Formats: sequence, structure tokens, C-alpha cells
Amino acid sequence: MRVIVCENYEQLSKEGAKLFASQMILKPNSVLGLATGSTPVGLYKHLIEMNKAGEIDFSDITSFNLDEYYPLSPENDQSYRYFMNENLFNFVNIDKARTFVPNGLSENPEEEGKNYDELIEKAGGVDIQLLGIGQNGHIGFNEPDVNLITGTHLTDLTENTIQANSRFFNSIDEVPTKAITMGMASIMKAKKIVLLASGANKKAVVSELLNDHITTNVPATLLKLHPDVVLICDKEAYGA
Ligand code: PGA
Repeated sequence: MRVIVCENYEQLSKEGAKLFASQMILKPNSVLGLATGSTPVGLYKHLIEMNKAGEIDFSDITSFNLDEYYPLSPENDQSYRYFMNENLFNFVNIDKARTFVPNGLSENPEEEGKNYDELIEKAGGVDIQLLGIGQNGHIGFNEPDVNLITGTHLTDLTENTIQANSRFFNSIDEVPTKAITMGMASIMKAKKIVLLASGANKKAVVSELLNDHITTNVPATLLKLHPDVVLICDKEAYGA
């Protein structure tokens, strides 16, 4: 795992955006793996600016998002589909028909997961995957557990995640308790992975990434087995 320590969130966002822009320039029909949460917002802002400046082109890009709350409609302003439209897709020249987010209203989440993984495979696999990290070490919504699941699947959210995500909702009771998430193998199949961590509340989990242990209790530590991961963190998350 390569580690880039940035001065602050702004620099982290710029560094992350550079990696995505480079990928898109080298391969204009790249398949991007995208993430939600507060951390990637700055990176998306930079991609929007670069797109407006004519430096990067989304017209041949396909994207797959990591996860979606369940059950939740894509029109709901708390859905991750809505988040992606508002933070990236509405402001770049991407074909929305080629932007995929798990269907939070699927009547058969098991089949939804299988189809999602097949779609990713049919698109040629994810070229570059963006990840945030939960304070509990989750990536996507792969929560700490004895067993982790390989493919895209329906999962229960832990109390810790529900608590952390309640800041986006009016009250904690409104936070969905389930989500459809790409599984660990679905994530690990990406050719490159860019993991972002910002702020002092990520310091403990980043230090788990920087030791040489792997544990399903901190799902992100499995990324140490991937050959091409870049961790971009700011000084607060790094503990410098
Ligand atoms: P955050 O979420 O970017 O809002 O901190 C990260 C995550 O839970 O994966």
C-alpha cells in the first residue's frame, strides 16, 4: 500500500482527483468505482472543474457505486443515487445511463447483487476504485465481522455506522438499518484502489492500516493484500 500524506483535506482532494483524471486521460472509456460520504466530495469538485476546463472527458466513462441504502428510493434525497447526481453526475458530461448504483428498491436484493457483479464484469471490471473508510474500518458497507462476504449483497448496518451517518439525517431513527453493498471480492477485483481518509476521527483506523496485520474486524485491512492501493490521508488522519 502506497501512502501519500497531505497537509489538509484540500490537498488530499486534489491528489485523489489527479489519480482519477490520469486514469481517464490514459483510458477515456475507463470504468470508475465511486463512493459516497463526506470524504470524496472535494475530489468530485476537482473532477467537475477539470471537466469544465476541458481537461477530462466523461463521455465514454462507465461508473459503479459501492453501495445504496435499503430500502430507499433513488429519488429520496438521502439516497446515494441522489448524492451522486448532486455531487458529480449533474455537473459533468457523463451519460447517466452508464452510471450504476445498486437499486435500493429491489424486491430481490440477492439477485440484484448477482446482477450488479455481472454488470461490472461485463463492463470489463473496475479500472480505479475510490473508497472512503468508516471509523470502524468498513469499506463500502462491509462491516466488521467474523465472516465477510465476497459479492454484492444486502447487509445490516452496525450501530457505529448508523450513529456516524445520522449526521446526514434529521434524526437517528431515519437512518436506514440496511444497505446493498459491493462485497470484499467485488472491491478487491478493481485494478487500482484509491482510499481516502481525512480528519482525526480516522486516525485510529488509519493506524490499523499502517501496521502489518489483517483482520476481518477491520475490513479495510484486507486491502493490504491488493497489489495497487494508494492511501491518501491528511496529517490529522495520519496522526502526524
Ligand atoms: P465519510 O464516510 O467519508 O463520511 O467519513 C466514510 C465511510 O463511511 O466509508
